[in-house]
Amino acid sequence: MFFYTATYTDERDRDFALSLGAERFVVKPTEPDSLMGIIEETLRQSAAAVPKTPPRPAGKKSQEETVYLRQYNEAIIRKLEDKMEQLEQVNRKLEQNIAERKRAEAGLQTSYEKLQKMIDETIEALGKMGEMRDPYTAGHQSRVARLAVTIARETGALEKEMMVIGLLHDVGKIIVPVEILTKPGKLTEVEFQMIQPHSQAGYDILYGIEFPWPVALTVLQHHERMNGSGYPNRLAGNQIIMEARILAVADVVEAMASHRPYRLAVGTENALEEISGNRGVLYDPRVVDACLGVFRKGFKFD
Ligand SMILES: [Fe+2]
Repeated sequence: MFFYTATYTDERDRDFALSLGAERFVVKPTEPDSLMGIIEETLRQSAAAVPKTPPRPAGKKSQEETVYLRQYNEAIIRKLEDKMEQLEQVNRKLEQNIAERKRAEAGLQTSYEKLQKMIDETIEALGKMGEMRDPYTAGHQSRVARLAVTIARETGALEKEMMVIGLLHDVGKIIVPVEILTKPGKLTEVEFQMIQPHSQAGYDILYGIEFPWPVALTVLQHHERMNGSGYPNRLAGNQIIMEARILAVADVVEAMASHRPYRLAVGTENALEEISGNRGVLYDPRVVDACLGVFRKGFKFD
């Protein structure tokens, strides 16, 4: 008989096991070869029939053994309690780490939101800067942006993208002489030609900014028309990107719906008639339909 155990607390464990009739007392872990050696040696000794102390009859424990067993149990319980305490400490440490990580993530999120807000405000400031030279059209870009975003919702384009493009689309007017921007009355052909480079100038200003959308290209194309009659490159149809087609419609409708120093507002009704009449000619038919739809649903400029 063997007493094979993983728990060894006291020298008396060995004595106790031997008193129960065990021939050997082995504590885990034991190498397999070593264990086999012990077994073989023990079997050899048994075969030699060396008389040994007969095991004590079951059920009869001396007072000393009872005391020892109680101490043995108490020692095991103390060990378990120590282990529990260690586990609780590990657990507390893990909870602390998780809380610290959550705080760090919240800090990063706040920094990201602040940065995003700063970028949005910079875009708005850049847009306003151009409009300050031309107080008569102040607010034009933000109104165009709002209509372009609403049309984007109907056509599946990105709202955020159209907001940025709308706010910046005329930033290139910075190169147009203020006398022409604010001139009352109709522009002459020469003056009109002096306005036209603002698309290219806007592209040149925005080209170096790594927006996640084609902002500069849209600004370059926002006066192109579907039949190739626009400027600066007389692009037609699919050569014009969808963002520029949306912006073209929002730009024309806002311009006609608002007052100018040299004329009263043409009015929203007439603006919508203009885009309906040129649906598929100057303007993308899907964008025209989406624009008419948003006005039917009650869209209004401020
Ligand atoms: Fe423009």
